[in-house]
Amino acid sequence: MAKKMASARISTASSQLLTELNNSLPFDKALYAEDIEGSRAHAFMLGEQGIISKEDVAAIDAGLAQIKEDIDAGKITLDGDDEDIHMAIERHLTERIGDAGKRLHTARSRNDQVALDFRMYVQRNTLLIGELLLENIKTFIDVAEKNAETLLPGMTHLQHAQPINFGYHMMAYASMFKRDYERFMSSYERNNFSPIGCAALAGTPHPINRKITAEKLGFDAPTLNCLDTVSDRDFALEILFNISTMMMHMSRLSEELIIWSTSEFGFVTLSDRHATGSSIMPQKKNPDIPELLRGKTGRVNGNLISLLTVMKGLSLAYNKDMQEDKEGVFDSVRTAVLSLQVMNEMIAEMRVNVEKMDKACMIGHLSATDLADYLVRKAGLPFRDAYHIVGNVVNFAEEKGLDISELTLEDLQSVDTRIAEDVVALLDNRASMNARKSEGGTATERTLEQIESMKGWLEAQ
Ligand code: ARG
Repeated sequence: MAKKMASARISTASSQLLTELNNSLPFDKALYAEDIEGSRAHAFMLGEQGIISKEDVAAIDAGLAQIKEDIDAGKITLDGDDEDIHMAIERHLTERIGDAGKRLHTARSRNDQVALDFRMYVQRNTLLIGELLLENIKTFIDVAEKNAETLLPGMTHLQHAQPINFGYHMMAYASMFKRDYERFMSSYERNNFSPIGCAALAGTPHPINRKITAEKLGFDAPTLNCLDTVSDRDFALEILFNISTMMMHMSRLSEELIIWSTSEFGFVTLSDRHATGSSIMPQKKNPDIPELLRGKTGRVNGNLISLLTVMKGLSLAYNKDMQEDKEGVFDSVRTAVLSLQVMNEMIAEMRVNVEKMDKACMIGHLSATDLADYLVRKAGLPFRDAYHIVGNVVNFAEEKGLDISELTLEDLQSVDTRIAEDVVALLDNRASMNARKSEGGTATERTLEQIESMKGWLEAQ
């Protein structure tokens, strides 16, 4: 049945192998809701323009609504040998309403139909991912707010560098996810144009009105050029790239969570709900969730590269290669949605071990730069000279097995007499963190400012 509808030109039955290679129904059935909604809008427009009768429109509309309900309810299973979701729905419709069903495909092609369905899917999921990102940003802000005074060794090269606060670190991620959100939204706006009515590649001689379908389906307007519309998949590439970038951020966070939850660090404890045990080692609590998020990032990157590669050599307009556009996008979207939901829970429920972080700040002479800055300000030394003096102070502290913040004034002066009493307070890690109050810096007051600014932004979304 499917083969008969698909082609007037091909007479012999297809090879079973061809069918298996060619059919996209096993995966594009995920687009059934979009396909039906698009067809209803198209039929409505055909009726408005007098291209088909209002009676036919009514029959098509009721038939499609019923098919949608039946698929929702599992009464239609979409596992037949139809070539794709478009042919499957059209077949069901025609079986149910007869000739009127055969008029639905007037003034359209599967080329604009699939471009429409897929774009609707991408647009909807862009909004869904956007919502989830906002929820996550809110969670990061909550954790940041509670920890704007929680000292944490800031690192470069994974080596202790300068004291920061944990809230500041969380706000770094909130900032990344905010940009991710903006990237999704800007893609949404750029792509919110309707493909339907482009037909096979060149438009149609029927007196259609693409504005009607565009408006009915929630697009800003019809696309400009039909040849482009049925040929390109950059809207799909955008969601893939946006997901990859977002997952890259999530993966870096995951890497930190994995490190932070080791016995060596112990900065955070993931909730038991987000960790798993070992089948042999009874004592184990493994950070599988962040590991999976990190791992899945590899897969979504692969999906992006796959589609870029599929598209790169295609002449205009539609080529069947383009049927390969969907599975990777479905996979990346599913991964993104689930990962965002999990990340939100995991961050909200993790325990922040304030004391462990505090204690770790006593390793690595975090306030060494403060001493150098002091010598520049106070004794007027060139920074490079101050830098060398502080190197000597650090060596001195190392010999005594102390952190420089633990040295007495006498200790310090034994290395350099230009160090005076007022320096002792500066070497305290909290003082050091709070001294970094330049714009965007880590000082608690600045962190709180960043939180306020991000809250204001959130409210405006
Ligand atoms: N299943 C096809 C796809 O996903 C639909 C478009 C088919 N168009 C065509 N001219 N064969 O790309």
